Amino acid sequence: MLTVAGLAKRHALASRPLFSDLALTIAAGEIVALVGESGIGKSTLLNCIAGLETPDSGSIRIGPQALDIVRLDEAARAVLRAHRIGFVFQAFHVLPTLSVAQNIAVPLLLCGVPLAEHAPRTQALLERVGLAGFADRWPASLSGGELQRVAIARALVHRPALILADEPTGNLDPRTADEVLALLLDRVREPRASALIVTHSQQVAQCCDRIVTLTADGLR
Ligand SMILES: Nc1ncnc2c1ncn2[C@@H]1O[C@H](COP(=O)(O)OP(=O)(O)O)[C@@H](O)[C@H]1O
Ligand SMILES: [Mg+2]
Repeated sequence: MLTVAGLAKRHALASRPLFSDLALTIAAGEIVALVGESGIGKSTLLNCIAGLETPDSGSIRIGPQALDIVRLDEAARAVLRAHRIGFVFQAFHVLPTLSVAQNIAVPLLLCGVPLAEHAPRTQALLERVGLAGFADRWPASLSGGELQRVAIARALVHRPALILADEPTGNLDPRTADEVLALLLDRVREPRASALIVTHSQQVAQCCDRIVTLTADGLR
């Protein structure tokens, strides 16, 4: 589902590269935890995989057609991202001026799913994440745990094959974090999607199929 090879990235003005020859393969249906010290480059790696940042060299092949997101132009990248990838950010990134249901439907708009399907699919996911009845609420009236459930629903509504989650429970209290994470794992496992989940929690990492650690010397 995901094959990263020879990936190198150095931020402008940085004294040394974050990584220089990174390799990572994630099979269909596999859930991988990505751990590593703060500042080591986990978010940069996820952003490169999602095509939000461009690596200096290497390839990132995604999906059954193994399209290399690094080689695509911006428009083709956006299409690949919209159809194949679901992204959950630490800071939720729920849009404050859209209702909960409208937030969740954004990927359906990007994928060109017919409008008539938006409400039923959004409603079904709201139920799956324990937010039935929240469709017309505004984000400002939701708790952190509820906002992250909205973000999870939004990352899954277009049935992406690859879920990327960057410290998805980092802004939540421990009990809410456990609940939200269990929910995310269930919702990824059910359609047999693949996932790469950045986490600082040993407990979270243990729930994944495999743990990879990003170090200054690469992935291990
Ligand atoms: N756009 C950027 N420009 C320059 N430096 C960056 C940029 N993004 C991240 N960095 C730096 O790269 C390093 C890795 O950042 P990041 O990928 O966010 O690490 P992590 O997610 O593991 O904490 C940090 O030192 C950070 O300051
Ligand atoms: Mg990070």
